[in-house]
Amino acid sequence: MPSTESRPPLSLALAGTGEAVAAYIDGAIRASGAPGERLAAAMRHATLAGGKRLRPFLVVESAALFGVPAARAMPAAAALECIHCYSLVHDDLPAMDNDDLRRGRPTVHRAYDEATAILAGDGLLTLAFEILAGEAIEEEPAIRLALIASLARAAGVAGMIGGQMLDLAAEGRFAEGKPLDLPAQAIIDLQAMKTGALLRQACEAGALLGRASPTERESLDRYARAVGRAFQIADDLLDVEGEASLVGKAVGKDAAAGKATLVGTLGIDGARAELSRLTGEAEAALAGFGSAATLLVEAAYFVADRRN
Ligand code: IPE
Ligand code: IPE
Ligand code: MG
Ligand code: MG
Ligand code: MG
Repeated sequence: MPSTESRPPLSLALAGTGEAVAAYIDGAIRASGAPGERLAAAMRHATLAGGKRLRPFLVVESAALFGVPAARAMPAAAALECIHCYSLVHDDLPAMDNDDLRRGRPTVHRAYDEATAILAGDGLLTLAFEILAGEAIEEEPAIRLALIASLARAAGVAGMIGGQMLDLAAEGRFAEGKPLDLPAQAIIDLQAMKTGALLRQACEAGALLGRASPTERESLDRYARAVGRAFQIADDLLDVEGEASLVGKAVGKDAAAGKATLVGTLGIDGARAELSRLTGEAEAALAGFGSAATLLVEAAYFVADRRN
């Protein structure tokens, strides 16, 4: 195997991307023209305090496979992180999961108020597209348009938003209040939308920036689909087995709310077995990239074993 000595370990690489993406988002919020202090402060609360920054990391590392420097991938990484953070602000609202704690701090509607949280989420959603449409991202208009379309599709009703709707429907909210008894495949499909779509978009953005070949794109997408599935299973396991003070958000809520999870359907051992199958699948998908993909492979294992 070629030497990987020059690559930083995963934790350092994640921290480095985290810092860079936070600085980028901070600058974008400052330049956003938000009136007064409150709205911008709520947007900062949502984006700049904690978070693993896994999606930006996947953008940067996927692009790096094709020699794209991190700085050139940063706008696409920041835009995706803005969408992710907005999805969390709205996910936590009383009308959705009704959570008070996020990343170890009060959720945005608790720290501010519900209307401000809704608008801060909306603000981050639109800011993401302003960033992507900006000059800095990519000289070639066709690539810029492809990045915008890819993010819109992933964040939209066929992706994250649609998945969130199915997630709430599975609780039985729009029927008689009785949780739906979904088969495993329906849960997998729902989670592929609510969580998987944004993680896939991360790798797609890297592939677009790097002008990946169709085969390379397909390999990365296979990796991202496995990581996306693993990511939500790990999240659902943390809800059952984690401790709020370590996870940084409330735990023990999914079963009570009637959420559709694979942990609920397969049990803890079944979910763990699925996780280990998925990490193997993620690793195998990147075999063709050799040691250049070491950090991405490590990230798949990190996702499965994460403690927050
Ligand atoms: C939490 O995402 C929401 C899910 C998709 C399960 P993350 O666990 O990536 O949240 P942060 O950004 O690290 O806080
Ligand atoms: C959230 O899933 C998915 C999105 C925000 C799109 P969860 O509702 O399980 O995420 P947490 O547990 O609140 O972070
Ligand atoms: Mg939710
Ligand atoms: Mg939630
Ligand atoms: Mg959860």
